[in-house]
Amino acid sequence: MIKLHALLPSVVALALLAGQAPAQSALTTDDLRRADALLAQMTPAEKIGQLNQPFYFKLPIAGFKADPVSYEDHIRRGEIGSLLFLTDAAEINRLQKIALNESRLHIPILFGFDVIHGFDTEFPVPIGAASSWDPEMVQRAQAMAAEEAWHAGLRWSFAPMVDIARDPRWGRISEGAGEDPFLGAAMARAQVLGFQGSSERPFLATLKHFAGYGAATGGRDYDASYISEEQLQNVYLPPFRAGVEAGAGSVMSAYMDLNDVPASGNVHLLREILREQMGFHGFVVSDAFAVGSLVTQGFAKDPADAAQRGAIAGVNMDMGSATYLNQMKALLDKGQLPTSQLDDLARPILATKYHLGLFDHPFSDATGQTHSEMLAKHRPAARLAAERSAVLLRNEGHLLPLAKSTKRIAVIGPMGDRAEDMNGPWSLTAKGTDTVSVVAGLKTKFVGANVRFAPGVQLIKEFPSSFDGMFGPKPETPWSAEEAEKQWKAALDLARNSDVVVMTLGELAAMDFEYSSRSSLQLPGRQQELLQAVQALGKPVVLLLFSTRPLDLAWASSHVPAIMDCFFGGTETGNAVADLLAGDAVPGGKLTVSWPRNVGQVPVFYAHTASHKPYDSPEFTSRYWDLPTSPLYPFGFGLSYSTFSISNLRLSAKSSPVDGTTTATVTVTNTGKVAADEVVQLYLHQRYGSGSRPVRELKGFRRVTLAPGQSQEVSLTVGPKERTYFSAAKGSWVTEPSDFDVWVGDSSEATLHESFSVLP
Ligand code: BGC
Repeated sequence: MIKLHALLPSVVALALLAGQAPAQSALTTDDLRRADALLAQMTPAEKIGQLNQPFYFKLPIAGFKADPVSYEDHIRRGEIGSLLFLTDAAEINRLQKIALNESRLHIPILFGFDVIHGFDTEFPVPIGAASSWDPEMVQRAQAMAAEEAWHAGLRWSFAPMVDIARDPRWGRISEGAGEDPFLGAAMARAQVLGFQGSSERPFLATLKHFAGYGAATGGRDYDASYISEEQLQNVYLPPFRAGVEAGAGSVMSAYMDLNDVPASGNVHLLREILREQMGFHGFVVSDAFAVGSLVTQGFAKDPADAAQRGAIAGVNMDMGSATYLNQMKALLDKGQLPTSQLDDLARPILATKYHLGLFDHPFSDATGQTHSEMLAKHRPAARLAAERSAVLLRNEGHLLPLAKSTKRIAVIGPMGDRAEDMNGPWSLTAKGTDTVSVVAGLKTKFVGANVRFAPGVQLIKEFPSSFDGMFGPKPETPWSAEEAEKQWKAALDLARNSDVVVMTLGELAAMDFEYSSRSSLQLPGRQQELLQAVQALGKPVVLLLFSTRPLDLAWASSHVPAIMDCFFGGTETGNAVADLLAGDAVPGGKLTVSWPRNVGQVPVFYAHTASHKPYDSPEFTSRYWDLPTSPLYPFGFGLSYSTFSISNLRLSAKSSPVDGTTTATVTVTNTGKVAADEVVQLYLHQRYGSGSRPVRELKGFRRVTLAPGQSQEVSLTVGPKERTYFSAAKGSWVTEPSDFDVWVGDSSEATLHESFSVLP
């Protein structure tokens, strides 16, 4: 493999090229100086202890018994630098006291947890939040999540997950920002700034999973990824680069093999790309058990070899596997691991503890009231976030919003009253009892109406797991055949006796999680059948979709008049949905994925290169016999209760030098009857160069709010940074003279077009 680091400009150079401030390391020289002073006092065993992060689990894992006493002994001996999965404030304080009072050097424990989209209050799942196309809102939401977790004694979140995902069979598509590197970078930056933005409550973000985890073969979680260097650089790494530039203090190395080398033992990835090219100075934590898994994956010979290769790659902290803890001392004694290398691994962890002020403020300050206080404080923001995330996909005959005078509303479908699922995957500390279900939200909003609910069918997880209930609500016990029949009939009777039917369909939150891939995008269970049976009754039907992967809407998209993707909106889901259905909030979210017509199209994404076309006839084209190649709904698409025009595209110049910037300006007008939001999107295409460039790529966007009849000028810029790409042919980053197309509009199918040239 070519040594890319020798050829590439660093992130710093690229940032300077684009006129931005260079990357800021989270760690200061003072943090590092203090870490070195501490290292000088530490025994090898104590240093190794700082690299060890066990799970505080209710299961015996990697030699750590689940009983608290076992943790106590390890802490006294200085063998636990960090603990994960402990969220109980009192237990955090108890163990922290042991670390501070009873370990030799009184080094505090860094408590980390998956604070993915909330802690006391759940905000929409990340792919939902990204669909708001509103980075400021996302930043505020993560700042609130950090505040909540901080009170519990946590100082570190394993978020944001910034993996680009172009395969919805992969359940973890829920945790990222979708298919696009530019949008992904904006959301990565926003989340890092949100998590780490408070000087009053210092907190640490993690960019994960480094890198390429979202490209799992077949969409199967944990499976290997095969990604060319140019795809890695141009598609998968931009969100990580943006997160490092924003100052993210930690990075999590991924589980899977990347091009046949496990990410957590991958020198090219973790040393050459992350540290040398990107200039990352924080610490790397492995994904759970990933150091131990270097053996499982057929890379390391045995656990000792795994520890050595993890260390060589620069994995500072071993999450869960205790491989470092159990193997490193022997490696040191045999001279297979130099002391200087051990110091290099421990230094950024200790420096981070100083940076976070952990030595001065090591304890949780939560009281019995904190949970309810946080909820009361953050509910309004969570409601707004859920409203801004929803994407309206169809609204024939202006069925939505519903008239406030609607008398009989039938809520039908298994997701209607499943409050806990509305919190979404990775909502491990939120309580379902705090969460507003769709039925509850509609009952509060439509006070004069008769809102009634019937699930009609059940949603059972296809493959129950031994972890069910640990990471989310437990799947239900299946109904008997007789009960199923009764429920089906009750739902159809209810639909018949209603003025409007709100169908609440989707997936259990647990299906959009880790180890939760699906081979089909069909609505699970008998939901499609139920939808068709209800639609056949001739009532107006609104379909609300609760899931994070785009499901197969081929039938619904031409039969059901109104469809809204609500993702999992978090604690305030029901109230947000009610606001949207009543028109007290107007949908303005846009898709962050190209919505497949069916699973056979996967992967389908808009930023592909132009295909070969041997002959100018309709047959000689890239196509399926049985399906168009275009998605059902394009990336960037979403409707509103209002209408907008985007017109008068003007470029600041028709030609520019290589280091010049072109500004594209459009006039956006709200041509409808209600105040609403539009997301203005700019797409770029380089017509020729040393490599084939995608037919179009998002390079700018802005969400604007306009009153009826109001117009606004929106300007977006294309500078050298937007035109720079990694060229496989050149083996380097290039900013080339060429001709460029610019489109500005309301989706990736924008037609408003201009062109300009970049001169040599
Ligand atoms: C996941 C990570 C997560 C870690 C700790 C792993 O299974 O892949 O995303 O942060 O567990 O919970």
